[in-house]
Amino acid sequence: MTEKFKAVVINNENEKFSRDIKDLEIADLKDGNVLVKVDYSSLNYKDALILNNGGKIVRNFPFVPGIDFSGTVVESEDSKFKKNDNVILTGFRVGEAYFGGFSQFAKVDSNFLIKIPKDLDSKKSMMLGTAGFTALLCSFAVKAKEELLLGAKVKDVLVTGATGGVGSIAIMILSKMGYDVHAATGKKDKNEYLKNLGAKNILDRKEFEGESKLLEKGIWDGVVDTVGGSALTKIFAQTKPGGIVAACGNAGGIKINTNVMPFIIRGVKLWGIDSSGSSLKRREFVWNEAAKLVDFSKIQSFTKELSFNELFGTYPKLLNGEFFGRAIVNPNK
Ligand SMILES: NC(=O)c1ccc[n+]([C@@H]2O[C@H](COP(=O)([O-])OP(=O)(O)OC[C@H]3O[C@@H](n4cnc5c(N)ncnc54)[C@H](OP(=O)(O)O)[C@@H]3O)[C@@H](O)[C@H]2O)c1
Repeated sequence: MTEKFKAVVINNENEKFSRDIKDLEIADLKDGNVLVKVDYSSLNYKDALILNNGGKIVRNFPFVPGIDFSGTVVESEDSKFKKNDNVILTGFRVGEAYFGGFSQFAKVDSNFLIKIPKDLDSKKSMMLGTAGFTALLCSFAVKAKEELLLGAKVKDVLVTGATGGVGSIAIMILSKMGYDVHAATGKKDKNEYLKNLGAKNILDRKEFEGESKLLEKGIWDGVVDTVGGSALTKIFAQTKPGGIVAACGNAGGIKINTNVMPFIIRGVKLWGIDSSGSSLKRREFVWNEAAKLVDFSKIQSFTKELSFNELFGTYPKLLNGEFFGRAIVNPNK
């Protein structure tokens, strides 16, 4: 194939950062053994950091960002995939170290791809994207308290960064799992939105600021934390015996300050989530559960479909905390 296609290209020539829509050729895609025609990508917090200035994540320029995509196989050197297979890619450092999904075509390692489950399609899979996949991983981590670890049944689950991509989808999934979801947010005008997703109770994120005792009254059976930082001190202290804190994010800071008491007196578990490094088996399991746990008409109601140009106008809002919900990127728009 010699035809040209469009892609977002970031560059950092002479310390001057740039982002443009450029024409590339298939020969410009140097990595991988499966060529995919991209239908959709999605905008995640990490993408916003990278689009802004490389986020100290991308080291080699010029570069095509986009940490996830869905699409159709055009050519494959691996017999696991054939032409016209519908595939999903999230993580594996695509969009960070390997050219990513903000492009009409992408070429990746066959070991990074899974086939789209039959209940999903290209658009639905990126309405979930890395954020949705991460929300699923976090929700199954919380569920492990009653399932894998055979502990007491999960009832009350806290979700922080509730109006974000991961938070919003986690609320939906956890309420579908039958749990009472408590949504912590900094946005005072989003109560209706959060209730509509399935939140039973809305908390101001300020409630987790300030001094915490070593142990406080146990409230949470599980926590999906997308925020990190100082709020975790109180969250650990408020987690019930055997409770699981699934920590995936750092939107509120990278440092945590805690003590051993929640862990050795109550057996609280801190379960780190790295969606990018999940095994293919775990990916297949989780993506196959998605359609049962997610109401796509609801996600559609808070999903914006962006062209590359619109992507450039939207990522700063995500970084400034002025965007909520999901944004999918259509490279053909
Ligand atoms: N570990 C993984 O595999 C993985 C995968 C995907 C994402 N992540 C991480 O998870 C986090 C959430 O991702 P996302 O895509 O959902 O991002 P997002 O859509 O930007 O949502 C982040 C949310 O965090 C809250 N927030 C923002 N700034 C904050 C601050 N200074 N203090 C406290 N809360 C703040 C806001 O929610 P409210 O206004 O409602 O409070 C915001 O909507 C990010 O840190 C991202 O890098 C990790």
